Amino acid sequence: NRFVALLPAAGSGSRMGAATPKQYLPLLGQPLLVHTLRALLGCPGLERVVLVLSPDDAWFEPAWVAGMDKLTVLRCGGASRAETVRNGLAALQASVAADDWILVHDAARPCIGVEEVERLIDTLRDDPVGGLLALPLADTLKRADGEGRSLATVPRDTLWRAQTPQMFRHGMLLRALESATHAGITDEASAIEALGLAPRLVAGNERNIKVTYPDDLALASLYLAERNR
Ligand code: C5P
Repeated sequence: NRFVALLPAAGSGSRMGAATPKQYLPLLGQPLLVHTLRALLGCPGLERVVLVLSPDDAWFEPAWVAGMDKLTVLRCGGASRAETVRNGLAALQASVAADDWILVHDAARPCIGVEEVERLIDTLRDDPVGGLLALPLADTLKRADGEGRSLATVPRDTLWRAQTPQMFRHGMLLRALESATHAGITDEASAIEALGLAPRLVAGNERNIKVTYPDDLALASLYLAERNR
């Protein structure tokens, strides 16, 4: 089976409060997205990396990815992340088999490491369902009323934080995203769960943060600088 990374990068990044979508914000002198692409292209287990942009993306510059031989750039992003992934999977249908593995990774997680990608691949390559990188929770969790008062403490031993990549077979993931109502789907695993299947949780890395708010950029540049040292 083949292993193909799919990067949805068609978001507008509204929570960042910047005019530029977050995947294009500068990080150590390069667009954030370029760091993410480099990291994935450095994973020996991945045969190909597919980037999905919005059809009206005005920021992407082909010169950034010159020489990235394993990379394919598509411009078929949709209105939601789930739609972007579904469109990307549909575009790949002719060139991959139904049981090839797709690793969906947020363009906005530039600190992804080779080590955890290889761990995900090695753990799941014979799995009937697939799964995702995730981390146990460190903080104590509170259930709130509508007025900001804590009603209860939620036991956290069965709770995990989902990261990406999320790795599922092409055919199963496309079917899951086609049958899902996209409103509540914030990751691929939730669409698979809606089919009644249970994705495997594989230990991720604390440094694989999703750049969402301005402070995340500073943290991501620290992690990347440390790695490149
Ligand atoms: O906004 P959020 O942080 O959940 O986005 C996660 C990833 O999904 C980002 O890489 C973003 O570019 C992508 N996305 C997309 N198409 C959308 C919305 C988000 O590819 N319509």
